[in-house]
Amino acid sequence: MSRLAGKTALITGAARGIGKAFAERYVAEGATVAIADIDLERATATASRIGDQAFAVHLDVSDQASIDAAVRTVAERTGGIDILINNAALFDLAPIVEITRASFDRLFAINVAGTLFTLQAVAKSMIARGKGGKIINMASQAGRRGEALVGVYCATKAAVISLTQSAGLDLIKHGINVNAIAPGVVDGEHWDHVDALFARHENLAPGDKKRLVGAAVPFGRMGTAEDLTGMAVFLATKDADYIVAQTYNVDGGNWMN
Ligand SMILES: NC(=O)c1ccc[n+]([C@@H]2O[C@H](COP(=O)([O-])OP(=O)(O)OC[C@H]3O[C@@H](n4cnc5c(N)ncnc54)[C@H](O)[C@@H]3O)[C@@H](O)[C@H]2O)c1
Repeated sequence: MSRLAGKTALITGAARGIGKAFAERYVAEGATVAIADIDLERATATASRIGDQAFAVHLDVSDQASIDAAVRTVAERTGGIDILINNAALFDLAPIVEITRASFDRLFAINVAGTLFTLQAVAKSMIARGKGGKIINMASQAGRRGEALVGVYCATKAAVISLTQSAGLDLIKHGINVNAIAPGVVDGEHWDHVDALFARHENLAPGDKKRLVGAAVPFGRMGTAEDLTGMAVFLATKDADYIVAQTYNVDGGNWMN
């Protein structure tokens, strides 16, 4: 398998979870991968476990100077970025009447502004290089439909879908494809946190929410990070050159829009 041989990918939030699975699969497909994360210690450990074709870089997607520095570092070290996966994001949960401005600002700063301005910095570097590129944003089924307790996160992911459309339409003239993946429910540390939040708000025992959402997936279980890697590879290859501004559900059948 070497569908990404010779390519360089910058993956945000890749120290753990879905981003880490993307990094592992991309390296297996021949890419060099920058594991860009706010948690540099964990990013470094993840990169060293993956091997020589992965390296860690510090990145806080809510800080423009950090975005610019990370993009410059990765481009200089590798000769140029071919693929960006905008994967870093935060989750929170609260009934509408309890949402705080602090939570709203934090989630929009990372999930929306972080996605847009990382995309912008990488797109500028791709345009200057003149070789086009592939940008994959991580949306969510939460961006397809509101949820009573998940108002802010759902709104951030709807914004990611919308930005994917606008950026996709604007950047294709430079040979840059912008598309997104909308996962459903993917087990891992992120969902341990989500499960604990639901347990508190819905009076459930720990683990109950995971069991409920997993049983509701038409495929019959929660997703794994590895379930998403095939789409992430496909969207980064030449086979996806004619795909522009789309968001793909990879969710075991949960949503169809
Ligand atoms: N897990 C799911 O069920 C699920 C479902 C739908 C969509 N998604 C989306 O997939 C993506 C990955 O999810 P995950 O489950 O692996 O999440 P995760 O919480 O396990 O990992 C997120 C990573 O982002 C990093 N990060 C946090 N803030 C950052 C910042 N400011 N700058 C840079 N890095 C930062 C964290 O350190 C962490 O390594 C996210 O965009 C998430 O919204 C996840």
